[in-house]
Amino acid sequence: MNMDILKKLGVRQINRGASTGQYAFGAEDHGKLDITSPATGELLASVYQASEVDYEMVISAARAAFSVWRNVPAPKRGEIVRQIGFEFRRHKMELGALVSLEMGKPLQEGWGEVQETIDICDFAVGQSRQLYGATMHSERPNHRMYDHYHPLGVAGIVTAFNFPVAVWSWNAMLAAVCGDVMVWKPSSRTPLSAIACQHIVQKVLKENDLPEGIFNLMIGQGEIIGEKILADERIPLVSITGSVRVGRHAAAVIAGRFGRSILELGGNNAIIVTPSANLELALPAIVFGAVGTAGQRCTTTRRLIVHESVYDRMKEALITAYQGLKIGNPLDTGNHVGPLVNRAAVDSFIRALERVVAEGGVILYGGTVLNGPEFSSGLYVTPTIVEAKNHYATVQEETFAPILYLIRYSGDISEAIALQNDVTQGLSSAIFTDRLSEAEIFLSAGGSDCGIANVNIGTSGAEIGGAFGGEKNTGGGRESGSDAWKAYMRRQTTTINFGMDLPLAQGIQFKI
Ligand code: UN1
Repeated sequence: MNMDILKKLGVRQINRGASTGQYAFGAEDHGKLDITSPATGELLASVYQASEVDYEMVISAARAAFSVWRNVPAPKRGEIVRQIGFEFRRHKMELGALVSLEMGKPLQEGWGEVQETIDICDFAVGQSRQLYGATMHSERPNHRMYDHYHPLGVAGIVTAFNFPVAVWSWNAMLAAVCGDVMVWKPSSRTPLSAIACQHIVQKVLKENDLPEGIFNLMIGQGEIIGEKILADERIPLVSITGSVRVGRHAAAVIAGRFGRSILELGGNNAIIVTPSANLELALPAIVFGAVGTAGQRCTTTRRLIVHESVYDRMKEALITAYQGLKIGNPLDTGNHVGPLVNRAAVDSFIRALERVVAEGGVILYGGTVLNGPEFSSGLYVTPTIVEAKNHYATVQEETFAPILYLIRYSGDISEAIALQNDVTQGLSSAIFTDRLSEAEIFLSAGGSDCGIANVNIGTSGAEIGGAFGGEKNTGGGRESGSDAWKAYMRRQTTTINFGMDLPLAQGIQFKI
């Protein structure tokens, strides 16, 4: 059945790491990635990693394609993306299943991820007719001013394992309608989903007689392909989703060549539960936020800041809810929680728990690695609740695992907000309250310092229509909806003189 899924998506047993479109190519001597499913440990398929020579071929094809694609009218580019969205609709079931198989998220979430891709395609189609600039009134007589947006060039897209399809598409579909061409370097843990996406896109490009080089794929080592993308002056924009450590290095390299970067790095997201919170509403939001994707979303709820007046009730309700969670094969839709992505993730889960206990944390639920025939890959862990203090070093870090830190506050809303902001990351945040003033304080200038601030919904599962990203160590980038498209274009300001005089701005007199 797994092989059927791969076949339907055009993924072979052995695949090549570089692709400029229809044809994949590449070296055989730069290492082979054998991709096993974290769900079962079985080998799914293999990929030869691309070399420096392959990289040059891809960049040349991309640059050649850009000179064609930038001249295609934006709404026509939108029409291509509309067709791509249609193909993703056709392949939603099997592509969602491949995401589950390859990185381990439950099938519902795998399908949800492909839906996110379909949604951003639809969004990008509309955006293709709305790449608006502003017009301004000139201070000079018989002059007109306006700004407009042009395609930027080759956009690098570097994505993480946890959203192997959706995050690429947020970037790629906007970049495509903006007239850019792309080079996508997916995580080496999830290249098969990327290959499947590449096939889906290429079918549409071929049917429309478009050249190779618009949507490019490079599967290769970070030290080779990743570093080349960061340092390459032919790539004016690089969008990176990954850890703070990776982002800090990438930002410096890209800034050093005056490139533009969109950084979507780590989160350490909190939900505040106030005395007036509707706990029935809060509970599923917290549990989905904490255990969805086995705690491996950037937006995962990692900290729960609960007022002492509802603390015990919240704690008991959470433990009961965690007891009811079904852990197991992500392709079985009866399960809520799948495996972690690999052994290193399990190790960091164990290490974080050891460290937080040493700091004074108390494990209230979970904390174990599961074994037994159903868990033969060795990557399944029990979602864990830990009573902790916000200042613990372990709590300050983003551990990509289902660990929820329960933190008590006793004062007013400002104490809760201070705790929530007292981390280095700034991606997502939420408050549960039925008091308008608390919600408004949370959303005000002195409130949450995150890129996402929600009221009475959780921290994860953002819709594509909003700008997605965060502040502080999260990197400041914005992707997906709202006006995030502007980062994929270059702005040009134009002043036109339709008079017979040449007045200078600022009233300067200059006679010759
Ligand atoms: C990520 O984890 O990098 O808001 C992206 C969410 C998803 C995207 C997460 N729509 O949880």
